[in-house]
Amino acid sequence: MLVFITNDYAELSRQAARMIANAMRKKPDLRLGLATGDTQQGMYRELVRMHREDHLDFSRVKTFNLDEYIGLPAEHPQSFRSSMHKSLFDHVNIAASHIHIPDGSPRDSFDQACNRYEEEIRRAGGIDLQIVGIGKDGHIGFNEPTSSLASRTRPKTLTQQTIEDNRHNFPAGEEPPAAAITMGIGTILEARRILLLASGAAKAKAVALAVEGPLSAAVSASALQMHPEVTVLLDREAAENLQHKDYYRKSLDMSRKLTPDRLW
Ligand code: F6R
Repeated sequence: MLVFITNDYAELSRQAARMIANAMRKKPDLRLGLATGDTQQGMYRELVRMHREDHLDFSRVKTFNLDEYIGLPAEHPQSFRSSMHKSLFDHVNIAASHIHIPDGSPRDSFDQACNRYEEEIRRAGGIDLQIVGIGKDGHIGFNEPTSSLASRTRPKTLTQQTIEDNRHNFPAGEEPPAAAITMGIGTILEARRILLLASGAAKAKAVALAVEGPLSAAVSASALQMHPEVTVLLDREAAENLQHKDYYRKSLDMSRKLTPDRLW
């Protein structure tokens, strides 16, 4: 893992957007995996700015979101589909047919909807770059603790911690969903590159377990240790519990010298 520690959230957001923009410039038909949540909002704002001011072109990009709530209609203001339109899709030149988000209210069965999503990813040629956030319990996507490290897209029951963490996005009195469809850990690990973003002290424990802890289904994000092309982009607070910060800085400097093409 390449661990990149930025000063603050603004720098983290700019850096993440720059990495995505570089990947899009190298491969204009990039298959881009996206995440929702608070962490990515600054990165989406920066991508929108780059589209407006620097002509960053989304016309050939195809996107695949990690997850969607079960039980909310797609047009519900708190659905991940609505959130993605508000933060990014409505402000850039992406074709509607290039946007893929799991269907949280399928007309047929959830099994069929999940298989269809996996098939859509396969048909597009797989995901080139997957963006992931991390939950306080170490989840990626909504792969809650004890998820199989080989799991595929499926419905997943959310932990009470995750439900509480999501509550602030819902109007008072409205109960946040208790389940979601999520790409599995096995699905995520098939992406060619993965970029994990984490910001704030509340994520420091999960980040340390994911990066330096044992590989374990108790911390889904630890499965990223199995992937050869993972970049972990943190702000100082999220990096606080890491034991090897100096080593990560040195290793980044060395990579700049030895393998600059592998950097973003
Ligand atoms: C959302 C997702 C989740 C979030 C995670 C962190 O698509 O996959 O894993 O990335 O729950 O959420 P925030 O960024 O709101 O703290």
